Amino acid sequence: MPLNTLCLDNSYESIKKCADIIKTGGLVAFPTETVYGLGASAFNKQSIAKIYEAKGRPTDNPLIVHVDSVEKIYPLVLDVPKKAQILIDEFMPGAITLILFKTDLIPDEITNFKKTVGIRVPSNETARLFIETCNVPICAPSANLSGKPSTTSANHVIDDLNGKIDAIIIDNPSEFGLESTIIDMTTDIPTLLRPGSITVSMIESVIGPIEISSYIKDNLFVDDDTAPIAPGMKYKHYSPKAPITIFKGSDDLVIKQIENLSSINNDEKHLKVGILTNDQNKDKFDKNKYTILTLGNNIKDYGKNLFSVLRKFDDEKVDIIYSFSFDDLDGESMALMNRLKKASGFNIVTL
Ligand code: TXA
Ligand code: MG
Repeated sequence: MPLNTLCLDNSYESIKKCADIIKTGGLVAFPTETVYGLGASAFNKQSIAKIYEAKGRPTDNPLIVHVDSVEKIYPLVLDVPKKAQILIDEFMPGAITLILFKTDLIPDEITNFKKTVGIRVPSNETARLFIETCNVPICAPSANLSGKPSTTSANHVIDDLNGKIDAIIIDNPSEFGLESTIIDMTTDIPTLLRPGSITVSMIESVIGPIEISSYIKDNLFVDDDTAPIAPGMKYKHYSPKAPITIFKGSDDLVIKQIENLSSINNDEKHLKVGILTNDQNKDKFDKNKYTILTLGNNIKDYGKNLFSVLRKFDDEKVDIIYSFSFDDLDGESMALMNRLKKASGFNIVTL
């Protein structure tokens, strides 16, 4: 039986209603500055199980625990190493998740029996008011169906989870649009597990050198919604539904190559071609023939728009997608390219 999902605004009255839903074991999707989250009480094992069910997510992939203020981190973790404390002071509240050793307050159902837990203090005002009003830590993955891009607007959440969860807090589109930076503070040298808008250089400027996980460096596939993998495991393509090819090279070469391939696929094979580009290059192609979607004109907008653009390609039912590469920028492009490369199944052609 589908649930009657309440779509509520971000008024205090609505947030109070959502907090009551959490307290009675329900699921509420809420905005954060990164992506929308699907929240449940971190202290209620039945609610935790419901998250995995609603998303269709394998239960061996741990969830992040969200609290509304830094002080609330300490009871949940055994120890805060010095470098972790520096990151907390510098970047929290904000788009960063620290992996720390957990106390027994965190149920094994959240961490898949790992001894560590990911902790995050979102900066989004609605998120913090919601968590504070729940008066309990909130475990929350991204509020998307497993295998689909994370949700960066309330409409995405409705598309994916309407009828599967108790309520959605409708707020503005997410400020950053890519999930938080995750850094493991339990290793000798802190290790970046997922790049985000808090970049490696921002982190290294306050705690010195960090490791970059081999999953990121070697383009091994790690999906938020699949179990942690063995190195070398093959990528499974989920979303967007159409295969993506990323072309790396000078704009001129990339434009020429995409133009050639698009016209072959469109004119001869009668396929619907999607082109993923930016504002600078969007007018270089025939918009009457192809579905041209732009990420915007600067790296912040690229990140903010990526997931909604990937979803739009599904809505437009394109058969094949050709994309520019956006990594000739600075360190901020690491998170964007990490998600785009994953979406392409690491199908990257260097020209
Ligand atoms: O920005 C974000 O982090 C969003 C918002 C809602 O806060 N959340 C999010 O959660 O992206 P999720 O579940 O979609 O991604 C969390 C990632 C997963 O890849 C999971 O494997 C990893 O964090 N993770 C969680 N706990 C971990 C742990 N103890 N050790 C290693 N990785 C962990
Ligand atoms: Mg996710």
